[in-house]
Amino acid sequence: MVVVSTKIAPSMLSSDFANLAAEAKRMVDLGADWLHMDIMDGHFVPNLTIGAPVIESLRKHTNAYLDCHLMVTNPMDYVEQMGKAGASGFTFHVEVAKENWQELVRKVKSAGMRPGVALKPGTPVEEVYPLVEGETPVEMVLVMTVEPGFGGQKFMPSMMDKVRALRQKYPTLDIEVDGGLGPSTIEAAAAAGANCIVAGSSVFGAPEPGEVISLLRTSVEKAQATT
Ligand code: DX5
Ligand code: ZN
Repeated sequence: MVVVSTKIAPSMLSSDFANLAAEAKRMVDLGADWLHMDIMDGHFVPNLTIGAPVIESLRKHTNAYLDCHLMVTNPMDYVEQMGKAGASGFTFHVEVAKENWQELVRKVKSAGMRPGVALKPGTPVEEVYPLVEGETPVEMVLVMTVEPGFGGQKFMPSMMDKVRALRQKYPTLDIEVDGGLGPSTIEAAAAAGANCIVAGSSVFGAPEPGEVISLLRTSVEKAQATT
């Protein structure tokens, strides 16, 4: 049995942005491993959220791993500022990095961040294989389980085929799922082999967010123990 470490990453998109530092502390105190930060440019996705200035402000209040998901058309333009701001992970979308992913991954690493690649529901999983097997590989694959852009959407179970294919090919890779994860969908994601779980509305909307975080963790650990 190969064990990859479980990371539960509340999506701060569902938090109270006006109280971001307090929300981040609350999540870490409740057991979050990572904080998932959704960066949107209003172009790659039809929504606008936060950018490096907010990451920089938040970094002054927390040592947590800031798992930054860049839903932007030109990820290269943000590497330097995100690194300086204190981002920990920099996950860009494969759909906008077909030509320059090698240079992008190198830059992300030299800016002190951990490179990851994300894919939208319509993108075939094969498109990320070269990035995982590259000379300077990405260290995480994020499988979107909703169309990127908004929190609170319905989990797409058909995306689990991608997770299964990745886990079979790469037993120790960090595989993240994002969109619609919560108590009713975690079993499917965990069984398919996901070990990094993003959850926004199911955590922040729960009366006891800490219970949801620990339920997500237990599901992933149980699934790993039985495979
Ligand atoms: C959607 C974002 C997600 C979102 C997930 O584009 O990438 O991180 O916040 O939210 P939930 O868990 O509510 O689907
Ligand atoms: Zn995200």
